[in-house]
Amino acid sequence: MFSRLFGKKKKTESEYAHLPLPEKADWSVLKADMHSHFLPGIDDGAQTPEDTVVLLQGMADMGYTDIITTPHVMIDHHPNTTATITAALETARELVTRHNINIKLRAAAEYYMDDHFDHLLKTEKLLTIKDNLVLVEYSMMYEPPRLAQTLFEMRTSGYHPIIAHPERYTFMHRTPDKYQELKDRGCLLQLNLLSLTGYYGQHIKAVADMLLEKGLYDYCGSDAHHERHIAALNKLAISPDYHRVANYPFRNPALVS
Ligand SMILES: [Fe+2]
Repeated sequence: MFSRLFGKKKKTESEYAHLPLPEKADWSVLKADMHSHFLPGIDDGAQTPEDTVVLLQGMADMGYTDIITTPHVMIDHHPNTTATITAALETARELVTRHNINIKLRAAAEYYMDDHFDHLLKTEKLLTIKDNLVLVEYSMMYEPPRLAQTLFEMRTSGYHPIIAHPERYTFMHRTPDKYQELKDRGCLLQLNLLSLTGYYGQHIKAVADMLLEKGLYDYCGSDAHHERHIAALNKLAISPDYHRVANYPFRNPALVS
């Protein structure tokens, strides 16, 4: 299986090798970021209002105009609700205004697929990235037992699932056909930009390269939690990989409000 994954020679990285490196970190080509943890004090991202200001200013400095930030909804660790997210968004928007940060800020959620999510799906209106787009994640280690069923229920409830960082689910590395299966089930796939840098490990990078090369991604996201992520995004923007991202047909620009 691994030879199928990694055996093919990567053309994508060398395709843009002749292009000059950008002099300034500028992700304005993407316009909108749709996966991050910028609301203060409600998950493992920004812990304080000061963190929120630094992170949002960092995104604005890289040319993003729209941020749809996505706090974890994970009952065991980050038991957020629409109410906690809406209240924190209000605080963050006041900070954006007070600090003159040139960004339009909205909030959705990164839903962890478990029994709690199944319950929410049946009983509540989910927070969407835009229209019917819902960002979901699941365990890195094993496939959720009800994955296919829950994805089906999302579709029949009118939602369009975006699978967060599929390259990071290590249990899927052994069965790369599962990525196409997700697409066949009507899912959209979201690349974590930092996966391309090796930030999460070389094995994650290899799978991200493969999915990018196969054209299986639909969106990309920063998944930024803290300043180290912003620094790494700045570095990626002035690396040869910038051109691989900028020349890929990500749908992020369609998310601007
Ligand atoms: Fe995330």
